[in-house]
Amino acid sequence: MALSFRRETAESAPEALVFSDGFSAAEELIQDLDTQFGEDQWLEVPADDAENMMSIASSEDSFVIVALSSNDEVAVANTAQLIRQARANGLMALLVVGDISPTTMHSIMREGVAEFAPYPEPAGALVDAIDRLRLARTNGNLPAISSTTGAPRRLGKVVAFYGVAGGVGASTMAVNFAWELTQMTRREGRRVALLDFNFQYGSIATFLDVPRREAVYELVSEASNLDQTGLTQALSTYKDRLHVLTAPRDALPLDIVSPADVDAIINLARESFDYVVIDMPQALMNWSEKVYAAADDFYAVMEIDMRSAQNMFRFMRTLKAEDMNLEKLRFVLNRAPGMTDLSGKTRVKRVAESLGIAFLHQIPEGGKQIVNSCDQGAPLYEGARSSPVRKEILRMVEKFMTEETEKAAAG
Ligand SMILES: Nc1ncnc2c1ncn2[C@@H]1O[C@H](COP(=O)(O)OP(=O)(O)OP(=O)(O)O)[C@@H](O)[C@H]1O
Ligand SMILES: [Mg+2]
Repeated sequence: MALSFRRETAESAPEALVFSDGFSAAEELIQDLDTQFGEDQWLEVPADDAENMMSIASSEDSFVIVALSSNDEVAVANTAQLIRQARANGLMALLVVGDISPTTMHSIMREGVAEFAPYPEPAGALVDAIDRLRLARTNGNLPAISSTTGAPRRLGKVVAFYGVAGGVGASTMAVNFAWELTQMTRREGRRVALLDFNFQYGSIATFLDVPRREAVYELVSEASNLDQTGLTQALSTYKDRLHVLTAPRDALPLDIVSPADVDAIINLARESFDYVVIDMPQALMNWSEKVYAAADDFYAVMEIDMRSAQNMFRFMRTLKAEDMNLEKLRFVLNRAPGMTDLSGKTRVKRVAESLGIAFLHQIPEGGKQIVNSCDQGAPLYEGARSSPVRKEILRMVEKFMTEETEKAAAG
């Protein structure tokens, strides 16, 4: 049942635009809104009228309340759409939820609501949420869950991992980097996405034991028509915290996506996540350059053999030929010789010199423990916490975070 249409025209802008089509506890909600706002200071808007009303409302006077009490696909999609519209119009959105599933909740929350309140229970949650919104509005700053200024809500940092030769450990690093980063930034409410761009043989689904979603295929094959909902449907989650775009179920040609598609996927991901970690396939595609250009940090991973060295040389030559900025390149040596392996150390030095590079990180060989952890679908944090491999990856994340902080301070 929809709430009655309270006011046709407003002498002053209503404080709340309310969308509550089909909301189960509508009667109680009406009463509570009357108490909170005063009878004529909130307005029930039919969804059809959303664009019109939102475009004339101002963020200084009004915010949007969207109520949802069902997991029905259409209702969820409509709610998501309303929140997007609010955001596009620079309005803060308060989500009022009845009895919905965690999955529904999750998919709606990531649309960028400023506040949410379960309703009708617990009593007081709605009032608290409204108060927080008012406070945020008065202070001119928005609640931490998201910003709603109409501009992209977040502008995530992009970190890419690229193995110059097969099997050098790029995916292992991408997975563990992403998970350590998720753990480290959890308390600040940061969101991390891990995207497997190896559409053919991507192994991230295996390494994290997460399902490959049907929607991945649509996402990669029609990325230019993509919206947040499409992205959301394609993402799996690891432990409810790390959002993962796996490779599709069937191996697809790497050129299934165009450079524009890759741009679209990265841009959407950056809007909803603070950090976007991308695992690249070894083959260089016409879209690889897009990832390189979007990356804040691009980790090029190699081992100490001739095959890796030659490929790294070629890769760098390609970047130079394309006039790409080499400063974002971070060189990582995997299965690096140990401290006591003097001849190995000499070799590392020689290879680095001949390539004209310095290794930012050297990750030791971690033996069976690492392979087992990958095979069991768990990050090293879970299965091999004290392994030197994990510790070095943790240092990678710490270094990355330190640099981020420095850049932010400088900028
Ligand atoms: N430092 C290490 N010590 C021990 N095993 C490792 C180490 N790094 C990676 N591995 C193992 O090597 C295997 C290959 O690693 P991974 O899949 O990460 O490489 P890749 O560069 O992504 O390969 P691909 O070319 O297939 O994409 C995995 O089983 C992984 O567990
Ligand atoms: Mg890989």
